[in-house]
Amino acid sequence: MKAVITSTAKYLPENILNNHDLEKILDTSDEWIRTRTGIRERRILKDPEKATSYMCSEVARKILEQRGISAEDIDLIIVATMSPDMLFPSTACLVQRDIQAMNAWAFDLSGACSGFLYALNAGAQFIAAGTHKKVLVIGGEKMSAVMDYTDRSTCVLFGDGAAGVLLEPGADENHGLLDARLYSDGRGCDNLSMPGGGSLHPTTHETVDRKLHYLQQDGKQVFKSAVVAMADVAVEIMNRNNLAAKDIDFLIPHQANHRIIQATAERMGIDLEKVAINIDRYGNTSAATIPICIAELDEQGKLQTGSNLILVSFGAGYTWGGIYLNWQ
Ligand code: UT7
Repeated sequence: MKAVITSTAKYLPENILNNHDLEKILDTSDEWIRTRTGIRERRILKDPEKATSYMCSEVARKILEQRGISAEDIDLIIVATMSPDMLFPSTACLVQRDIQAMNAWAFDLSGACSGFLYALNAGAQFIAAGTHKKVLVIGGEKMSAVMDYTDRSTCVLFGDGAAGVLLEPGADENHGLLDARLYSDGRGCDNLSMPGGGSLHPTTHETVDRKLHYLQQDGKQVFKSAVVAMADVAVEIMNRNNLAAKDIDFLIPHQANHRIIQATAERMGIDLEKVAINIDRYGNTSAATIPICIAELDEQGKLQTGSNLILVSFGAGYTWGGIYLNWQ
């Protein structure tokens, strides 16, 4: 049995932080950020009382409403995030509480920017096994909570947001999640991490002074790996499924850098009109980028029965992968 997406939704905080706002607090420029990354603005969840679970719960509520089902119908909630409300309990359990999905079990999945693809594939396995009928898969991040707004090399890149999908069993074998190739390489772990606050560097005055509670990235190294890995896995998915560029309706790539997205599309031989791009408006929302793109395409009515979608991502870990979806 194949898992199909039966509903999608997104939540973006209203507050916009644009490149000119950043020019006022950092030695940076709108021109540098736009030309090096493609980002013009990003959303920030300003309310200190609200965190990742708030945005994910908003997404879950919209999905339930659209699908016309109640929270009790949900069997499983998976939240992909690297900015959970807290280390434990899981953000997924907080969402379960907020929406009152009392028949569901819930867990977080830590796959950084590839978290949504990992979670989508994991959720699809429960559907394929026939043991679960309704699985919520959500990617949500309050990246502004782990940003050092004095570090121009990272804070200009990321934004907040959440989005998700409802997975259900499909009517036939031709639609839904048809293929997935997911990878990890832990040797990349030092190039993108948030070292503080875990069991290796529990929070102390010293870890805070050393700014270990902020995301740290060697952007150049990550760029080099991402540009190769995302294009390779996209081509691998095409070859495994005998897909030519003309067969693909949309490439939905992780939104870390417009240059990486462009290079992936070029390797696949796909025109940019067929590529979902919102990095200009939201920046890098990590695990939320791909579901936000899916929800936007869905809202715009661009996803038709039979549409072929290729999803590709790359993130901390390293983690990367590709998924081939045929829209139901
Ligand atoms: O989503 C998870 C995976 N993450 C990624 O895929 C991100 C991959 N990396 C990237 O997208 C790019 O490496 C960045 C956008 C992060 C950086 O772009 P870059 O072209 O690799 O720049 P760089 O780090 O080599 O820096 C070039 C110059 C440096 O100055 P010098 O040393 O040449 O004088 C930086 O200090 O740009 C400077 N710079 C900035 N200048 C203005 C770095 N950040 C900024 C900034 N504004 N915000």
